[in-house]
Parts: sequence; C-alpha cells; structure tokens
Amino acid sequence: MKNTLIAPSVLAADFANLQRDIEMINISEADWFHIDIMDGVFVPNISFGMPVLEAISKHAKKYIDVHLMIIDPDRYIKTFADLGANGLTVHYEACTHLHRTLQAIKAEGMKAGVAINPHTNIDLLEDVINDIDLVCVMSVNPGFGGQSFIENTYDKVKKLKALITRKNASTLIEIDGGVTNKNAKQLVEAGADVLVAGSFVFKAENPTETIADLKVLTAF
Ligand code: DX5
Ligand code: ZN
Repeated sequence: MKNTLIAPSVLAADFANLQRDIEMINISEADWFHIDIMDGVFVPNISFGMPVLEAISKHAKKYIDVHLMIIDPDRYIKTFADLGANGLTVHYEACTHLHRTLQAIKAEGMKAGVAINPHTNIDLLEDVINDIDLVCVMSVNPGFGGQSFIENTYDKVKKLKALITRKNASTLIEIDGGVTNKNAKQLVEAGADVLVAGSFVFKAENPTETIADLKVLTAF
C-alpha cells in the first residue's frame, strides 16, 4: 500500500499561535513540516526567515522540509542546515549552477530538492535527476498560499514519474500549491509521493482530522 507523505505548510498557520500549530502537526498523522522561505525578489512576497525557523525547529518533532523561494540560495545552505532543515529545496529558476548547489546541500547532510515553477518543463531536469532527492512540482505560481490548483500539474507529474523510472532514479515527487481532498488521490495516482497542504489543513475546522483524512485518501 502506498504511504503518501503529508506535509502541512506552516505558511498557513496562525503565527500568533505558532507553538500551538506546531504541536498540532507533531501529534497529527502528518509526516513532514513544510517551511516556505520567500525573499520578495524571486517571488512577490516575503514570508519569514531564520529566527522563525529556529523557533519552529525547537518544537518540531518531524522532518523539516524547507522550500527556498529566494535568489542565489547557495549563500544560505549552511545556515539552513544549522537551523535544523532535513531537506532543502531550491528553485530550478533561481540556480545558475544547479548541479553544484545540489552537491553543496548534500555535503551539509540534507536531502537535496529542486522546485519547478508551473512554466518550467520537466525535460530540463533530465541531466540532474539522479542527483535530486526530491522534485517539488509547483501547482500554483509560488509566492502565496490559498491559490487555486493548476490542472496541467497531473500531466507534468506523469511525465516526471516516467523520467524518474526511465533514469532509474529514487527521486520523490512533491506537489505544492492548492492541494485539497479534491485532487489528492489523482495526484498520487499520477505519481506523487509527498503532498504539501497549507490552507486546506489550517483553515479546516479540524486540522488534525483533515490530515488524517488526506492520509486515508492517498493510501491505496
Ligand atoms: C506557495 C508555497 C506553498 C503554500 C501552499 O508559494 O510554496 O507551500 O504554502 O499553500 P496552499 O496549500 O494554501 O496552496
Ligand atoms: Zn512551498
């Protein structure tokens, strides 16, 4: 049976009650914490930075999946490792020397991820796929939570899954943006391994139950 990993996005948490929301994820069936770092340059929004991640790390009892939406991410690889990131995902569109960046992330003991914007073709990853632990397929344009899911994502995920299989790689496929109980199953059927969910979890009346429901829905 497939064990789809569920990664609630802390961006949608209540920042005035951050510890409460972190504890909710700790005791829930969620697998990972998804942490969105935005610089206001690569994306048109600024989220939060190092001091907040440091505070989250102190309480988080699960894998910390950091999604960097920043230009020139190489500058901060060591910093994020020191802050407790288990996986570090950089954007394909923000890296001039992606292969080098991936090696640098791994050298710091983290899993290396690459996120691709909705307009970025899967084929561009062909020559580095065996070096990537996780591809984060953006199913919205990065920068904000609560946007609607782009339907073309299913085809992209299928194409990516075929590439991973053809290259005999062990890369995980993560989907980020607009994930709900309406698209979760179909995404997993297309090849997704990790689902990020922000608003769908945190705006729900019962977030813990919503996470548990996503686990059931995606296990088949
Ligand atoms: C968007 C972020 C996402 C976001 C997802 O730029 O990368 O992780 O928090 O939020 P929802 O699930 O609300 O689309
Ligand atoms: Zn994200």
